[in-house]
Amino acid sequence: MDKFVIRGGNPLLGTIRVSGAKNSALPCMAAAILTADEVVLENIPQVRDIDTERKLLESMGATVELGYGRAQHRTTIQCAVLSDPEAKYEIVKTMRASSLVLGPLVARVGVARVAVPGGCAIGGRPIDLHLRGLEKMGATITQEHGSIEAKADRLHGAHILFDKITVTGTEDLLMAATLAEGETLMENCAQEPEVTDLAAMLIGMGAKIEGAGTSTIRVTGVEKLHGVRHRINPDRIEAGTFLIAGAITGGDVNVDCCNPAHLAAVIAKLEQCGVRMEVGKDNIRVRSEGVKLQGADMSTVEYPGFPTDMQAQFMALATQAEGTSTITENIFENRFMHVSELVRMGANIRVEGRTATVRGKTPLSSAAVMCSDLRASASLVLAALVAEGETILDRVYHIDRGYEHIEEKLRGVGAQIRRMGEVFGKR
Ligand code: EPZ
Repeated sequence: MDKFVIRGGNPLLGTIRVSGAKNSALPCMAAAILTADEVVLENIPQVRDIDTERKLLESMGATVELGYGRAQHRTTIQCAVLSDPEAKYEIVKTMRASSLVLGPLVARVGVARVAVPGGCAIGGRPIDLHLRGLEKMGATITQEHGSIEAKADRLHGAHILFDKITVTGTEDLLMAATLAEGETLMENCAQEPEVTDLAAMLIGMGAKIEGAGTSTIRVTGVEKLHGVRHRINPDRIEAGTFLIAGAITGGDVNVDCCNPAHLAAVIAKLEQCGVRMEVGKDNIRVRSEGVKLQGADMSTVEYPGFPTDMQAQFMALATQAEGTSTITENIFENRFMHVSELVRMGANIRVEGRTATVRGKTPLSSAAVMCSDLRASASLVLAALVAEGETILDRVYHIDRGYEHIEEKLRGVGAQIRRMGEVFGKR
């Protein structure tokens, strides 16, 4: 189990380059299933989940070239023949986003088998809304031995109204609808930038889609889709994480190659806490030397609201802000795994139901802490950057799932951080 060792106290100074968005790259890689042609995706982040998706696609019969340093973070995928349209449990249990292959497989080859994802640290992660949508489009769904099978000679258009807003549910059914016969109307859709990014790729493949990025999406199915070269959006959550790294350490950090328009709710909340930022066209500079942070209340909501994927990171910042911050997690039922670890470092946090009350400012001191999930891990890194002494973070493979070489990026702006153990994706 590799660990991070972080000595706190350095204000971060300099520029950090944001990588491509993991949560865009995953659906876009799955979209390659929809065509027998070659698909090229650029600005792919070098993170563990992408490698997992490569293994998943290869297990189904796809050829996947995944280059990093040499190929400028590009992947070339060709699903000429999909001999085994199945996402097996050993892969699905490590990455719930494997369910994104459901819709494309049924649409392309008429059958999909996906191991029931099972829960994870942050919640149950059901896919009932994905399945209900596919049934409305004509798929027959069966479940046995822990695996779901969806079958359809050819999907047909349908009117889908999501009971709950679901990001990958919207993406999964959007992909299915591109090859379905007739019109599909999807309402109460997720509006996240990752949905818009996927739609742009699909349109580049010849799909007919209107309204991506709004709550209502219309799709007119086509017979076939062709190959495409598509560049993945910058990762808005990685960018937000580094903004907080600059703010929490009282530093001066330029977060470069990002899309500030995707971070409006995060920028507004940080400004409410007293964080000073200069917002450019594709960068945000956070200047926090001498700034006294003020606590602020925050509730996670679907985009364009404050993202649940930034909740843990915001909580770390709140521990260094004067006053009380109430943080309410409305999306997932168990996304406070970072609280106990932050408390062990000296934070004053009390959880009641979906709300955590943070009282600051409390000095943090180093401790041996355990990473539990991707964003909780990011929260502990942020806390360690200001904790007195040397903090040891265990099980950092969680953070490698969604942050590319985070220790190198942070060291590049003066953080005292080093990894002990094997390095994922060593160049
Ligand atoms: C996506 O997960 C992201 N993952 C998550 O990021 C993110 O936290 C989440 O959206 C919310 O923004 C990817 O895009 C790969 P949901 P997803 O379906 O699609 C319930 C990270 O840290 N629900 O929008 O799985 C569900 O239980 C990850 O990068 C159903 O009830 O989330 C949750 O309470 C973590 N039935 C709510 O909806 C369903 O069929 C929103 O989940 C689907 C979802």
